[in-house]
Amino acid sequence: MTVLGHLRSQLAFLTHRSVLWGASALGDPGARLVRRGTADPYPLYDEIRATAPLVRSRLGFYVGAGHALSARLLRDDRFGMPGPHGVFPLRAATEPVHPIEDSFLMMDPPDHTRLRRLVAPWFTSRTVARRAEEIERIVADCLDEFEGAGEVDLVPLFANRVPVQVICDLLGVPAPEHERFRGWANRIAPAFDGVNSVGEFERLRQVMLELQEFFTELIAFRRRHPAEDILSGLVHAKVDGESLNTKDLLATSGLLLLAGFGTTVNLIGKGALGLLTHPDALGHLRRDPGLAAAVVEETLRYDPPVHLTARFAREDAEVAGFRFRRGDQIVLSLAGANRDPAVFDHPDQFDPTRPNAREHLAFSGGIHFCVGAALARLEAGIALRALFQRHPRLELAGAPERGDGRTLPMLTSLPVHCPRRAASSAA
Ligand code: HEM
Repeated sequence: MTVLGHLRSQLAFLTHRSVLWGASALGDPGARLVRRGTADPYPLYDEIRATAPLVRSRLGFYVGAGHALSARLLRDDRFGMPGPHGVFPLRAATEPVHPIEDSFLMMDPPDHTRLRRLVAPWFTSRTVARRAEEIERIVADCLDEFEGAGEVDLVPLFANRVPVQVICDLLGVPAPEHERFRGWANRIAPAFDGVNSVGEFERLRQVMLELQEFFTELIAFRRRHPAEDILSGLVHAKVDGESLNTKDLLATSGLLLLAGFGTTVNLIGKGALGLLTHPDALGHLRRDPGLAAAVVEETLRYDPPVHLTARFAREDAEVAGFRFRRGDQIVLSLAGANRDPAVFDHPDQFDPTRPNAREHLAFSGGIHFCVGAALARLEAGIALRALFQRHPRLELAGAPERGDGRTLPMLTSLPVHCPRRAASSAA
Protein backbone atom coordinates (compact mmCIF):
# COMPACT_ATOMS: atom_id res chain seq x y z
CA MET A 1 0.00 0.00 0.00
CA THR A 2 1.35 3.45 -0.85
CA VAL A 3 1.76 6.13 1.85
CA LEU A 4 -1.13 8.09 0.36
CA GLY A 5 -3.26 4.94 0.16
CA HIS A 6 -2.39 4.15 3.76
CA LEU A 7 -3.40 7.63 4.94
CA ARG A 8 -6.63 7.51 2.96
CA SER A 9 -7.50 4.11 4.43
CA GLN A 10 -6.64 5.23 7.95
CA LEU A 11 -8.89 8.26 7.50
CA ALA A 12 -11.71 6.09 6.18
CA PHE A 13 -11.40 3.75 9.18
CA LEU A 14 -11.37 6.65 11.64
CA THR A 15 -14.34 8.32 9.96
CA HIS A 16 -16.27 5.02 9.93
CA ARG A 17 -15.56 4.41 13.63
CA SER A 18 -16.39 7.99 14.63
CA VAL A 19 -19.67 7.93 12.72
CA LEU A 20 -20.63 4.62 14.35
CA TRP A 21 -19.58 5.86 17.78
CA GLY A 22 -21.43 9.17 17.37
CA ALA A 23 -24.64 7.63 16.06
CA SER A 24 -24.47 4.95 18.73
CA ALA A 25 -24.05 7.58 21.47
CA LEU A 26 -27.17 9.30 20.11
CA GLY A 27 -29.03 6.01 20.55
CA ASP A 28 -29.28 5.03 16.87
CA PRO A 29 -30.38 1.37 16.85
CA GLY A 30 -28.47 0.53 13.64
CA ALA A 31 -25.18 1.88 14.96
CA ARG A 32 -25.69 0.15 18.30
CA LEU A 33 -26.43 -3.10 16.50
CA VAL A 34 -23.34 -3.21 14.29
CA ARG A 35 -20.81 -1.47 16.55
CA ARG A 36 -18.29 -3.91 18.02
CA GLY A 37 -18.45 -4.48 21.75
CA THR A 38 -18.75 -7.17 24.38
CA ALA A 39 -22.01 -5.95 25.96
CA ASP A 40 -24.93 -8.41 26.01
CA PRO A 41 -26.78 -7.63 22.72
CA TYR A 42 -30.09 -9.36 23.63
CA PRO A 43 -31.69 -6.32 25.39
CA LEU A 44 -31.02 -4.31 22.22
CA TYR A 45 -32.65 -7.00 20.03
CA ASP A 46 -35.69 -6.90 22.34
CA GLU A 47 -35.81 -3.12 22.11
CA ILE A 48 -35.66 -3.10 18.30
CA ARG A 49 -38.28 -5.86 18.04
CA ALA A 50 -40.60 -4.02 20.44
CA THR A 51 -40.25 -0.76 18.44
CA ALA A 52 -41.27 -2.10 15.00
CA PRO A 53 -40.73 -5.05 12.67
CA LEU A 54 -38.09 -2.88 10.94
CA VAL A 55 -36.46 0.27 12.28
CA ARG A 56 -34.70 2.80 10.03
CA SER A 57 -31.21 3.77 11.18
CA ARG A 58 -29.87 7.32 10.66
CA LEU A 59 -26.99 5.61 8.89
CA GLY A 60 -29.34 4.75 6.05
CA PHE A 61 -30.16 1.08 6.57
CA TYR A 62 -33.00 -0.83 8.23
CA VAL A 63 -32.65 -3.16 11.19
CA GLY A 64 -34.98 -5.95 12.25
CA ALA A 65 -35.04 -8.46 15.10
CA GLY A 66 -38.41 -10.18 14.71
CA HIS A 67 -38.95 -13.72 13.45
CA ALA A 68 -41.79 -13.37 10.94
CA LEU A 69 -40.38 -10.54 8.84
CA SER A 70 -36.80 -11.89 8.97
CA ALA A 71 -37.93 -15.31 7.73
CA ARG A 72 -39.95 -13.65 5.00
CA LEU A 73 -37.17 -11.35 3.78
CA LEU A 74 -34.59 -14.15 3.74
CA ARG A 75 -36.83 -16.17 1.45
CA ASP A 76 -37.77 -13.30 -0.87
CA ASP A 77 -35.70 -13.38 -4.06
CA ARG A 78 -36.17 -9.63 -4.56
CA PHE A 79 -33.58 -9.28 -1.79
CA GLY A 80 -30.04 -10.49 -2.32
CA MET A 81 -26.39 -10.18 -1.42
CA PRO A 82 -24.08 -7.23 -1.99
CA GLY A 83 -21.67 -9.04 -4.33
CA PRO A 84 -17.89 -8.52 -4.35
CA HIS A 85 -16.65 -5.30 -2.71
CA GLY A 86 -19.96 -4.66 -1.06
CA VAL A 87 -18.73 -5.62 2.39
CA PHE A 88 -15.14 -4.39 2.45
CA PRO A 89 -15.21 -1.48 0.00
CA LEU A 90 -11.60 -0.54 0.77
CA ARG A 91 -10.31 -3.61 -1.05
CA ALA A 92 -8.49 -3.13 -4.31
CA ALA A 93 -8.79 -5.52 -7.25
CA THR A 94 -5.21 -6.71 -6.65
CA GLU A 95 -6.00 -8.01 -3.15
CA PRO A 96 -5.90 -11.77 -2.50
CA VAL A 97 -9.08 -13.72 -3.18
CA HIS A 98 -11.36 -13.18 -0.20
CA PRO A 99 -12.82 -16.42 1.19
CA ILE A 100 -16.09 -14.74 2.14
CA GLU A 101 -16.48 -11.68 -0.04
CA ASP A 102 -15.53 -13.41 -3.30
CA SER A 103 -17.45 -16.58 -2.49
CA PHE A 104 -20.93 -17.69 -3.49
CA LEU A 105 -22.18 -16.64 -0.04
CA MET A 106 -22.07 -13.08 -1.37
CA MET A 107 -23.57 -13.87 -4.79
CA ASP A 108 -27.06 -13.89 -6.25
CA PRO A 109 -28.30 -16.41 -8.82
CA PRO A 110 -27.26 -17.58 -11.36
CA ASP A 111 -23.63 -17.53 -10.09
CA HIS A 112 -24.71 -18.50 -6.59
CA THR A 113 -26.70 -21.48 -7.89
CA ARG A 114 -23.88 -22.65 -10.17
CA LEU A 115 -21.30 -22.77 -7.36
CA ARG A 116 -23.52 -23.90 -4.50
CA ARG A 117 -24.69 -26.87 -6.58
CA LEU A 118 -21.12 -28.17 -6.77
CA VAL A 119 -20.61 -28.43 -3.02
CA ALA A 120 -24.15 -29.16 -1.78
CA PRO A 121 -24.00 -32.95 -2.49
CA TRP A 122 -21.16 -33.28 0.04
CA PHE A 123 -23.34 -31.88 2.81
CA THR A 124 -26.67 -33.71 2.56
CA SER A 125 -27.79 -35.38 5.82
CA ARG A 126 -27.19 -38.81 4.30
CA THR A 127 -23.67 -38.06 3.01
CA VAL A 128 -22.70 -36.38 6.25
CA ALA A 129 -24.03 -39.26 8.37
CA ARG A 130 -21.37 -41.50 6.78
CA ARG A 131 -18.73 -39.40 8.52
CA ALA A 132 -20.15 -40.01 12.02
CA GLU A 133 -17.58 -42.66 12.93
CA GLU A 134 -14.69 -40.50 11.79
CA ILE A 135 -16.04 -37.54 13.79
CA GLU A 136 -16.41 -39.79 16.89
CA ARG A 137 -12.73 -40.67 16.53
CA ILE A 138 -11.63 -37.02 16.14
CA VAL A 139 -13.68 -36.06 19.22
CA ALA A 140 -12.29 -38.96 21.27
CA ASP A 141 -8.70 -38.03 20.32
CA CYS A 142 -9.26 -34.43 21.40
CA LEU A 143 -10.76 -35.59 24.70
CA ASP A 144 -7.79 -37.93 25.29
CA GLU A 145 -5.44 -34.98 25.05
CA PHE A 146 -6.72 -33.30 28.19
CA GLU A 147 -7.70 -36.41 30.09
CA GLY A 148 -7.01 -35.87 33.79
CA ALA A 149 -5.65 -32.36 33.22
CA GLY A 150 -7.73 -30.79 36.03
CA GLU A 151 -8.50 -27.25 35.05
CA VAL A 152 -8.62 -26.59 31.29
CA ASP A 153 -10.01 -24.09 28.81
CA LEU A 154 -12.54 -25.95 26.66
CA VAL A 155 -12.44 -23.47 23.78
CA PRO A 156 -8.83 -23.88 22.59
CA LEU A 157 -8.55 -27.50 23.71
CA PHE A 158 -11.81 -28.89 22.44
CA ALA A 159 -14.36 -26.60 20.72
CA ASN A 160 -11.64 -25.10 18.55
CA ARG A 161 -9.96 -28.38 17.60
CA VAL A 162 -12.75 -30.68 16.48
CA PRO A 163 -14.20 -28.50 13.66
CA VAL A 164 -10.89 -27.77 11.97
CA GLN A 165 -10.05 -31.45 11.69
CA VAL A 166 -13.49 -32.32 10.36
CA ILE A 167 -13.50 -29.64 7.68
CA CYS A 168 -9.86 -30.25 6.71
CA ASP A 169 -10.58 -33.97 6.22
CA LEU A 170 -13.56 -33.12 4.03
CA LEU A 171 -11.57 -30.64 1.97
CA GLY A 172 -8.64 -33.01 1.62
CA VAL A 173 -6.08 -31.00 3.60
CA PRO A 174 -3.35 -33.39 4.79
CA ALA A 175 -3.29 -34.03 8.57
CA PRO A 176 0.15 -32.41 9.20
CA GLU A 177 -1.29 -29.13 7.88
CA HIS A 178 -4.37 -29.05 10.15
CA GLU A 179 -2.70 -26.95 12.83
CA ARG A 180 -1.57 -24.37 10.28
CA PHE A 181 -5.16 -24.20 9.06
CA ARG A 182 -6.44 -23.72 12.59
CA GLY A 183 -4.08 -20.76 12.96
CA TRP A 184 -5.32 -19.15 9.73
CA ALA A 185 -8.97 -19.79 10.52
CA ASN A 186 -8.61 -18.36 14.03
CA ARG A 187 -7.01 -15.23 12.65
CA ILE A 188 -9.57 -14.69 9.89
CA ALA A 189 -12.75 -15.55 11.86
CA PRO A 190 -12.91 -12.22 13.80
CA ALA A 191 -12.74 -10.35 10.47
CA PHE A 192 -16.35 -11.37 9.77
CA ASP A 193 -17.07 -8.09 11.59
CA GLY A 194 -14.67 -6.01 9.55
CA VAL A 195 -11.38 -4.66 10.79
CA ASN A 196 -10.63 -1.88 13.28
CA SER A 197 -7.48 -0.39 11.83
CA VAL A 198 -5.21 -0.38 8.82
CA GLY A 199 -2.77 -2.51 10.83
CA GLU A 200 -5.44 -5.16 11.36
CA PHE A 201 -6.34 -4.96 7.68
CA GLU A 202 -2.70 -5.55 6.70
CA ARG A 203 -2.39 -8.54 9.04
CA LEU A 204 -5.61 -10.00 7.65
CA ARG A 205 -4.34 -9.51 4.13
CA GLN A 206 -1.14 -11.37 5.00
CA VAL A 207 -3.10 -14.35 6.39
CA MET A 208 -5.28 -14.44 3.31
CA LEU A 209 -2.21 -14.44 1.09
CA GLU A 210 -0.76 -17.39 3.02
CA LEU A 211 -4.07 -19.25 2.78
CA GLN A 212 -4.28 -18.53 -0.93
CA GLU A 213 -0.74 -19.75 -1.54
CA PHE A 214 -1.48 -22.95 0.35
CA PHE A 215 -4.73 -23.65 -1.52
CA THR A 216 -3.06 -22.86 -4.86
CA GLU A 217 -0.48 -25.58 -4.21
CA LEU A 218 -3.06 -28.05 -2.94
CA ILE A 219 -5.29 -27.43 -5.96
CA ALA A 220 -2.35 -28.09 -8.31
CA PHE A 221 -1.59 -31.31 -6.39
CA ARG A 222 -5.21 -32.50 -6.54
CA ARG A 223 -5.29 -31.81 -10.27
CA ARG A 224 -2.55 -34.42 -10.66
CA HIS A 225 -3.61 -36.71 -7.80
CA PRO A 226 -7.37 -36.62 -7.31
CA ALA A 227 -8.76 -38.16 -4.12
CA GLU A 228 -12.16 -38.58 -2.48
CA ASP A 229 -12.46 -35.05 -1.15
CA ILE A 230 -14.26 -31.80 -1.93
CA LEU A 231 -11.24 -30.01 -3.35
CA SER A 232 -10.59 -32.83 -5.84
CA GLY A 233 -14.30 -32.72 -6.73
CA LEU A 234 -14.16 -28.96 -7.36
CA VAL A 235 -10.91 -29.12 -9.34
CA HIS A 236 -12.35 -31.71 -11.72
CA ALA A 237 -15.92 -30.36 -11.84
CA LYS A 238 -17.37 -29.15 -15.13
CA VAL A 239 -20.22 -26.67 -15.36
CA ASP A 240 -21.64 -26.43 -18.89
CA GLY A 241 -18.46 -28.13 -20.08
CA GLU A 242 -16.16 -25.63 -18.34
CA SER A 243 -13.90 -26.04 -15.30
CA LEU A 244 -14.07 -23.58 -12.41
CA ASN A 245 -11.73 -20.62 -12.70
CA THR A 246 -8.98 -20.17 -10.10
CA LYS A 247 -10.78 -17.40 -8.25
CA ASP A 248 -13.95 -19.48 -7.77
CA LEU A 249 -11.87 -22.49 -6.70
CA LEU A 250 -9.95 -20.47 -4.12
CA ALA A 251 -12.97 -18.62 -2.80
CA THR A 252 -15.11 -21.75 -2.51
CA SER A 253 -12.43 -23.72 -0.64
CA GLY A 254 -11.75 -20.75 1.64
CA LEU A 255 -15.46 -20.27 2.31
CA LEU A 256 -15.91 -23.89 3.38
CA LEU A 257 -12.98 -23.65 5.77
CA LEU A 258 -14.14 -20.39 7.32
CA ALA A 259 -17.91 -20.88 7.31
CA GLY A 260 -17.46 -24.31 8.83
CA PHE A 261 -14.97 -23.31 11.48
CA GLY A 262 -15.78 -20.32 13.76
CA THR A 263 -19.48 -21.15 13.64
CA THR A 264 -19.00 -24.72 14.83
CA VAL A 265 -16.44 -23.69 17.46
CA ASN A 266 -19.12 -21.39 18.84
CA LEU A 267 -21.84 -24.02 18.68
CA ILE A 268 -19.83 -26.60 20.61
CA GLY A 269 -18.61 -24.00 23.12
CA LYS A 270 -22.01 -22.41 23.67
CA GLY A 271 -23.68 -25.83 23.92
CA ALA A 272 -21.22 -26.85 26.65
CA LEU A 273 -21.78 -23.52 28.41
CA GLY A 274 -25.57 -23.96 28.21
CA LEU A 275 -25.30 -27.37 29.85
CA LEU A 276 -22.83 -26.28 32.49
CA THR A 277 -25.10 -23.42 33.55
CA HIS A 278 -28.37 -25.37 33.39
CA PRO A 279 -28.07 -28.43 35.63
CA ASP A 280 -31.60 -29.64 34.72
CA ALA A 281 -30.68 -29.80 31.04
CA LEU A 282 -27.40 -31.54 31.89
CA GLY A 283 -29.32 -34.03 34.05
CA HIS A 284 -31.59 -34.87 31.11
CA LEU A 285 -28.57 -35.41 28.85
CA ARG A 286 -26.83 -37.60 31.44
CA ARG A 287 -29.87 -39.82 31.71
CA ASP A 288 -30.42 -39.93 27.95
CA PRO A 289 -27.36 -39.14 25.75
CA GLY A 290 -29.73 -39.28 22.77
CA LEU A 291 -30.92 -35.81 23.82
CA ALA A 292 -27.70 -34.27 22.50
CA ALA A 293 -29.45 -33.34 19.24
CA ALA A 294 -32.10 -31.41 21.18
CA VAL A 295 -29.38 -29.60 23.17
CA VAL A 296 -27.72 -28.60 19.89
CA GLU A 297 -31.01 -27.28 18.49
CA GLU A 298 -31.79 -25.26 21.60
CA THR A 299 -28.23 -23.86 21.62
CA LEU A 300 -28.70 -22.76 18.02
CA ARG A 301 -31.90 -20.99 19.05
CA TYR A 302 -30.83 -19.56 22.41
CA ASP A 303 -27.47 -18.08 21.39
CA PRO A 304 -26.67 -18.81 17.75
CA PRO A 305 -23.10 -18.66 16.44
CA VAL A 306 -24.04 -16.13 13.73
CA HIS A 307 -26.03 -13.17 15.11
CA LEU A 308 -26.43 -10.88 12.10
CA THR A 309 -26.92 -11.06 8.38
CA ALA A 310 -27.89 -8.53 5.74
CA ARG A 311 -29.85 -8.32 2.53
CA PHE A 312 -30.06 -5.69 -0.20
CA ALA A 313 -33.18 -4.83 -2.21
CA ARG A 314 -32.42 -5.88 -5.79
CA GLU A 315 -35.42 -3.89 -7.03
CA ASP A 316 -38.08 -1.57 -5.59
CA ALA A 317 -40.24 -3.84 -3.46
CA GLU A 318 -42.98 -3.74 -0.85
CA VAL A 319 -43.03 -6.22 2.04
CA ALA A 320 -45.42 -6.14 5.00
CA GLY A 321 -46.19 -2.47 4.36
CA PHE A 322 -42.53 -1.43 4.06
CA ARG A 323 -41.52 0.15 0.76
CA PHE A 324 -37.92 -0.53 -0.19
CA ARG A 325 -35.98 1.23 -2.90
CA ARG A 326 -33.48 -0.70 -5.00
CA GLY A 327 -30.17 -0.86 -3.06
CA ASP A 328 -31.74 -0.46 0.40
CA GLN A 329 -29.90 -2.52 2.99
CA ILE A 330 -31.55 -4.45 5.80
CA VAL A 331 -29.55 -5.85 8.72
CA LEU A 332 -31.37 -8.75 10.35
CA SER A 333 -30.66 -10.10 13.80
CA LEU A 334 -31.01 -13.87 13.52
CA ALA A 335 -30.30 -14.08 17.26
CA GLY A 336 -33.07 -11.57 17.92
CA ALA A 337 -35.52 -13.54 15.76
CA ASN A 338 -34.67 -16.62 17.82
CA ARG A 339 -35.85 -14.86 20.99
CA ASP A 340 -39.12 -13.61 19.48
CA PRO A 341 -41.86 -14.31 22.07
CA ALA A 342 -44.40 -14.51 19.23
CA VAL A 343 -42.77 -17.82 18.22
CA PHE A 344 -40.96 -19.13 21.31
CA ASP A 345 -42.50 -19.33 24.80
CA HIS A 346 -40.20 -17.92 27.51
CA PRO A 347 -37.59 -17.19 24.83
CA ASP A 348 -34.87 -16.17 27.31
CA GLN A 349 -34.85 -19.61 28.92
CA PHE A 350 -32.45 -22.31 27.74
CA ASP A 351 -34.73 -25.34 27.49
CA PRO A 352 -33.69 -28.32 25.35
CA THR A 353 -37.15 -29.87 25.82
CA ARG A 354 -38.73 -26.96 23.91
CA PRO A 355 -40.89 -28.54 21.17
CA ASN A 356 -40.31 -25.96 18.42
CA ALA A 357 -36.62 -25.04 18.86
CA ARG A 358 -36.01 -26.05 15.23
CA GLU A 359 -37.96 -23.02 14.03
CA HIS A 360 -34.88 -20.91 14.81
CA LEU A 361 -33.14 -18.93 12.08
CA ALA A 362 -29.59 -19.77 13.17
CA PHE A 363 -28.80 -21.21 9.73
CA SER A 364 -30.53 -18.29 7.95
CA GLY A 365 -33.14 -19.10 5.31
CA GLY A 366 -33.95 -19.10 1.59
CA ILE A 367 -31.31 -19.82 -1.00
CA HIS A 368 -28.40 -19.00 1.36
CA PHE A 369 -29.58 -21.44 4.05
CA CYS A 370 -26.39 -22.88 5.53
CA VAL A 371 -24.94 -25.63 3.34
CA GLY A 372 -23.18 -27.16 6.35
CA ALA A 373 -26.21 -27.32 8.69
CA ALA A 374 -26.39 -31.14 8.77
CA LEU A 375 -22.65 -31.43 9.38
CA ALA A 376 -22.71 -28.80 12.14
CA ARG A 377 -25.64 -30.55 13.86
CA LEU A 378 -23.97 -33.96 13.68
CA GLU A 379 -20.57 -32.72 14.79
CA ALA A 380 -21.84 -30.65 17.73
CA GLY A 381 -24.14 -33.49 18.86
CA ILE A 382 -21.28 -35.99 18.88
CA ALA A 383 -18.94 -33.53 20.61
CA LEU A 384 -21.35 -32.59 23.42
CA ARG A 385 -22.49 -36.14 24.05
CA ALA A 386 -18.94 -37.47 24.22
CA LEU A 387 -17.69 -34.58 26.37
CA PHE A 388 -20.28 -35.12 29.09
CA GLN A 389 -20.12 -38.92 28.87
CA ARG A 390 -16.38 -38.80 29.40
CA HIS A 391 -16.64 -36.07 32.07
CA PRO A 392 -20.02 -36.33 33.78
CA ARG A 393 -18.84 -34.09 36.63
CA LEU A 394 -17.42 -31.32 34.48
CA GLU A 395 -18.03 -27.90 36.03
CA LEU A 396 -17.32 -24.25 35.27
CA ALA A 397 -14.04 -23.05 36.76
CA GLY A 398 -14.31 -19.36 35.90
CA ALA A 399 -16.18 -16.79 33.84
CA PRO A 400 -16.49 -17.51 30.13
CA GLU A 401 -15.07 -14.85 27.82
CA ARG A 402 -16.43 -13.50 24.55
CA GLY A 403 -14.96 -11.57 21.64
CA ASP A 404 -16.32 -8.20 20.56
CA GLY A 405 -17.71 -9.28 17.16
CA ARG A 406 -21.35 -8.56 16.38
CA THR A 407 -21.87 -10.90 13.43
CA LEU A 408 -19.95 -13.82 14.85
CA PRO A 409 -19.57 -13.15 18.58
CA MET A 410 -16.99 -15.77 19.44
CA LEU A 411 -16.87 -17.59 22.74
CA THR A 412 -13.13 -17.23 23.33
CA SER A 413 -12.67 -18.96 26.68
CA LEU A 414 -14.59 -21.52 28.75
CA PRO A 415 -12.58 -22.56 31.81
CA VAL A 416 -13.75 -25.84 33.31
CA HIS A 417 -12.72 -28.18 36.04
CA CYS A 418 -12.33 -31.64 34.63
CA PRO A 419 -12.14 -34.18 37.49
CA ARG A 420 -9.93 -37.21 36.97
CA ARG A 421 -11.60 -40.10 35.23
CA ALA A 422 -11.51 -42.48 38.19
CA ALA A 423 -13.42 -39.93 40.26
CA SER A 424 -15.91 -39.23 37.49
CA SER A 425 -16.64 -42.87 36.73
CA ALA A 426 -17.33 -43.42 40.43
CA ALA A 427 -20.07 -40.78 40.24
C1 HEM B 1 -23.08 -24.05 13.89
C2 HEM B 1 -22.58 -24.04 12.76
C3 HEM B 1 -23.01 -23.13 11.66
C4 HEM B 1 -23.83 -22.03 11.66
C5 HEM B 1 -24.59 -21.44 12.81
C6 HEM B 1 -23.87 -21.53 10.30
C7 HEM B 1 -24.60 -20.44 9.91
C8 HEM B 1 -24.72 -20.03 8.61
C9 HEM B 1 -25.53 -18.91 8.18
C10 HEM B 1 -26.34 -18.03 9.10
C11 HEM B 1 -25.40 -18.83 6.84
C12 HEM B 1 -26.13 -17.87 5.90
C13 HEM B 1 -25.68 -16.46 5.97
C14 HEM B 1 -26.66 -15.56 5.31
O1 HEM B 1 -27.79 -15.94 4.97
O2 HEM B 1 -26.31 -14.39 5.14
C15 HEM B 1 -24.49 -19.86 6.42
C16 HEM B 1 -24.11 -20.06 5.12
C17 HEM B 1 -23.18 -20.99 4.77
N1 HEM B 1 -22.59 -21.94 5.58
FE1 HEM B 1 -22.93 -22.22 7.53
N2 HEM B 1 -23.06 -22.32 9.53
C18 HEM B 1 -22.54 -23.31 10.31
C19 HEM B 1 -21.70 -24.33 9.93
C20 HEM B 1 -21.29 -24.54 8.66
C21 HEM B 1 -20.45 -25.63 8.23
C22 HEM B 1 -19.94 -26.76 9.12
C23 HEM B 1 -20.22 -25.43 6.91
C24 HEM B 1 -19.42 -26.27 5.94
C25 HEM B 1 -18.36 -26.86 6.18
C26 HEM B 1 -20.93 -24.25 6.50
C27 HEM B 1 -20.94 -23.72 5.23
C28 HEM B 1 -21.72 -22.68 4.83
C29 HEM B 1 -21.74 -22.18 3.46
C30 HEM B 1 -20.93 -22.73 2.30
C31 HEM B 1 -22.65 -21.13 3.43
C32 HEM B 1 -23.06 -20.29 2.21
C33 HEM B 1 -24.38 -20.80 1.69
C34 HEM B 1 -24.91 -19.99 0.53
O3 HEM B 1 -24.60 -18.80 0.42
O4 HEM B 1 -25.63 -20.58 -0.28
N3 HEM B 1 -21.57 -23.73 7.59
N4 HEM B 1 -24.09 -20.58 7.50
